[in-house]
Amino acid sequence: MIPRHQLRVFPSREELFQAAASDFVSFAGEAVSARGRFTVSLSGGSTPKGLYQLLASNAVGPIPWEKVFLFWGDERHVPPDSPGSNYRMVSEALLTHVPIPADHTFRVHAENPDADAAARLYERAVCDFFSLTPGQFPCFDLVLLGMGPDGHTASLFPGTAALHERNRLFVANWVEKFKTYRLTFTLPVLNGAANVAFLVSGADKAPALKEIISVPAPTVDYPASLIQPASGTLTWLVDQEVAGGP
Ligand code: 6PG
Repeated sequence: MIPRHQLRVFPSREELFQAAASDFVSFAGEAVSARGRFTVSLSGGSTPKGLYQLLASNAVGPIPWEKVFLFWGDERHVPPDSPGSNYRMVSEALLTHVPIPADHTFRVHAENPDADAAARLYERAVCDFFSLTPGQFPCFDLVLLGMGPDGHTASLFPGTAALHERNRLFVANWVEKFKTYRLTFTLPVLNGAANVAFLVSGADKAPALKEIISVPAPTVDYPASLIQPASGTLTWLVDQEVAGGP
């Protein structure tokens, strides 16, 4: 399910982050040249923190932060100062270190006890930003994604309703195993991107990746396999541990 040209295996997380940072700079340059801005849907969790810290370190190429617009691919249903907040993770690793204008970061207001209201508010913000009419979906210049050991991506977990959502852009998705809502972009948004990059690290993801590589077709059993950009690029950046060792 993952053509060889879409899978890039790196000996270490550090080399994976370096490659991801280089791609980020390239995508930013292309987008700004073509459209005067660079729109990104960020991945949460722990893996991408290394990329965000690298981008903040100025150790990579020039990034026109004044032309970058950041969104969150998903968010936990927690306040922004919670240890589990994806916003907090990105803020600490990146936002507080780079000159990105405050109104260029679109935080999910996940502190709202009404998860559905929080999702609809974010959906409205995305529609307004991209000037979408009903039925239209945004085209992010770059969507960054991770994958859990169960093959979930963003907050699209196996067996959850959001996997089947084809009309909404951003929803509150009940995740039974966590007994909580997660807030997430839906597949039409993720698959509408110009470029999608998975960053996957850690031996615990190896079985899911092996399944996704071997399954003959996308399957809801492994939501990450459903990421098949309609016309955009798809790249899996994985470390050796995930790829199944040496
Ligand atoms: C989240 C992420 C989620 C993440 C995977 C992998 O909110 O947790 O969006 O989809 O990418 O769970 O997480 P790790 O990178 O922490 O392994």
